Amino acid sequence: MSAKDYQFASRAVFYEPEEHSQSISYPIYMSANFQYAGDIYDQIVAGARKEVNIYSRCGNPTEYKFEEHIAQLTGGTGCLATASGMAAISHALFGILKAGDHIVADLTTYSSTHEFFDHRAQDFGLKVSLVDCTDVRAVENAFTAETKVLYVEAIANPTMKVPPLRKLVEIAHARGIVVICDNTFASPAVCRPHEFGVDVVVESATKFIGGHNDAVGGVITLKSDILPADWLEDVRWNTLNKLGAPLSPFNAWLLLRGAQTLSLRLEKQCANALALAKHLEAHPRVKRVFYPGLPSHPNYAAASEQLQGGGAMLSFQVADEASGARLLKRLKLCSFAASLGGLRTTTQVPATMAFLDIPSQEREAMGVVDGLVRFSVGIEHIDDIIADVDQAIALMHVDL
Ligand SMILES: Cc1ncc(COP(=O)(O)O)c(C=O)c1O
Repeated sequence: MSAKDYQFASRAVFYEPEEHSQSISYPIYMSANFQYAGDIYDQIVAGARKEVNIYSRCGNPTEYKFEEHIAQLTGGTGCLATASGMAAISHALFGILKAGDHIVADLTTYSSTHEFFDHRAQDFGLKVSLVDCTDVRAVENAFTAETKVLYVEAIANPTMKVPPLRKLVEIAHARGIVVICDNTFASPAVCRPHEFGVDVVVESATKFIGGHNDAVGGVITLKSDILPADWLEDVRWNTLNKLGAPLSPFNAWLLLRGAQTLSLRLEKQCANALALAKHLEAHPRVKRVFYPGLPSHPNYAAASEQLQGGGAMLSFQVADEASGARLLKRLKLCSFAASLGGLRTTTQVPATMAFLDIPSQEREAMGVVDGLVRFSVGIEHIDDIIADVDQAIALMHVDL
């Protein structure tokens, strides 16, 4: 039995110890540079790259160990770690696309991703169509002869929309189009998009993979019949090495440590999120709850097929944006903060935080309406989370 045959929870914990020292906690190789000892120079001249250590922008042993671990967890054939989730997204796109190529992307993606598709991609000669990717027919109609990439999120912020991955892969692959999925809101414990045929999975490791709000990083994993088997190594040498956003060895170590509790954390976080979602759905001052684990969610069928547990992210709508912000300022246990995916419950109001730079009409078309409150549910005791949320809701109409 090899490590890849173990259940997810065991794969999350287990990795082989370091070869030289047998250290169970993999060492941090805190070095920018490596000496060309023995025949290393000759090996590099002959074409060796990852087999030898050259310079930490090109790769580092701690980063390689983290990549190996994530590939095992996600079911990818390989992994490339980057300095942030946005670096994973941009490097995956620049590793595939050339000027003139066309992308079909979901209308609702993380704000920086959306802004890249909506404004910045055009500066590089890329063409983009933004469509609702829960509508398979609309996606099919948006494909052109130049379409090279279909881009979606496994759970899309902030309405927690879940696109039907298998169907999207089928229509994209029939045209040789690569499917990229951002798995940040789900994490590999909740969704493994490669199992549904997705070619490239990108994820902000800053969030659930790391899980402790202490390190920024990103990962790209591959499992594809369309892209070449060595595509990730090509991205490492010809894109990441040139654009220059490697993961630091210290962050690789922190993220590797965090990933070992991913299964355990998400089990608790998903259970807490479901309980909070049910509580909020019955709350008289909450207009609507968006959680993929609730039968009322518009994509409940896709979520039931693709997600293990409904995830740890939910959002709900209150009267208006000011009430949402006041509610969050009243929280005592839960933290009002930008990011997500850590042990602690963190919350934000997407319309005036993550999506602030996006014009209001565009925002509303994405489902980012005023008064929407987003929760990344942590591992605290559920009774304490609910009590904190209830006392804050009770005071959300009162100025501090
Ligand atoms: C869905 C999603 N993708 C990507 C990112 C970017 O990740 P990072 O902040 O690590 O660059 C975020 C950040 O919040 C996100 O929510």
